Amino acid sequence: MTITITGALGHIGSALIRNLDPKVTRVHLVDNLFTQRYASLFNLPAHPKFIFHETDILSAEMEGIIKNSDAIVHLAAITDAQNSVRNRTLVNRVNKQGVRKLALLAARYRVPLLFPSTTSVYGVQSGLVDENCPQNDLKPQSPYAESKLYGERLLDRLGKSKGLAFVTFRIGTIFGYSIGMRFHTAVNKFIWQVCLGQELTVWKTALHQKRPYCALTDAIAAINHVLGNNLFDREIYNIVTVNSTVSEIIDTIRLYKSNVRIRLTQSPIMNQLSYDVSREKSEKKGFTYTGNLKRGIRETIRKFSGLRNTQMS
Ligand SMILES: NC(=O)c1ccc[n+]([C@@H]2O[C@H](COP(=O)([O-])OP(=O)(O)OC[C@H]3O[C@@H](n4cnc5c(N)ncnc54)[C@H](O)[C@@H]3O)[C@@H](O)[C@H]2O)c1
Repeated sequence: MTITITGALGHIGSALIRNLDPKVTRVHLVDNLFTQRYASLFNLPAHPKFIFHETDILSAEMEGIIKNSDAIVHLAAITDAQNSVRNRTLVNRVNKQGVRKLALLAARYRVPLLFPSTTSVYGVQSGLVDENCPQNDLKPQSPYAESKLYGERLLDRLGKSKGLAFVTFRIGTIFGYSIGMRFHTAVNKFIWQVCLGQELTVWKTALHQKRPYCALTDAIAAINHVLGNNLFDREIYNIVTVNSTVSEIIDTIRLYKSNVRIRLTQSPIMNQLSYDVSREKSEKKGFTYTGNLKRGIRETIRKFSGLRNTQMS
């Protein structure tokens, strides 16, 4: 099986390309190096065969790549949700026009598409939320999350009108090490700040609010589950390892670092309530979860063990 992975050098992509389902024999890696993660191409395994395309997902080159693929994992996106308020134009171009272009090509050439959305599309919620949440209740709180909801709705329409085969994941915030990892999301950002001896900057409103998180290993297992079982069933699945409060995450970091200091800041994104995201639908479909927050945090902290500020317990 030949697949295309866009955004292949990023946090998820750089781990996925090292842990692909054995059915995958050839991979077109697409990335425009917007985030400069050249190192993600270091020491790739001998199998499958990798072909790297340094190109934009909106480039004309994408047609030839997709035409010759059996599936697309579309990871490329502008992913910094907090700064997406300032970068709306770029977010719309890459995240909205990008998914539109790829989905239309996928429909034309009958190539199934895996689309990673985000649990942030749930926005202002409380209690336990699942994929049956009415569309009117989805209230994304950033241009980034809005762009993902746009993608979800577009795929749904193209599935009905053009027979596009797809699956959408609403993934919780990823934690866990990869060579192309980024540090502007909750768990990773805290680890970075603690390992550098900095104060943790925590949104005041978020301290005791529950949010969904996903171990990188679980996200990769979910992607492989779709690829390995050809599970492009036009459904949406929450992909979530654990629902946790920021306060619980910080307590877990404290297990490995004694010097945690916190500074509470105002959030630029509207306040939200506490909510849990259900993973029941994905489990019923055979997705499995083995990740855990403690292990993910410990592994990432260990990567910084050479820094002077690092005090492993
Ligand atoms: N990491 C998370 O917490 C998380 C959670 C939910 C959903 N997701 C989604 O999963 C996907 C992958 O996330 P990630 O954390 O690996 O992101 P990332 O930012 O680490 O990687 C994205 C990659 O896309 C590339 N890229 C950006 N614009 C591009 C363009 N125009 N053309 C080609 N390549 C381009 C970047 O260079 C980067 O390597 C994204 O769509 C993201 O929205 C991520």
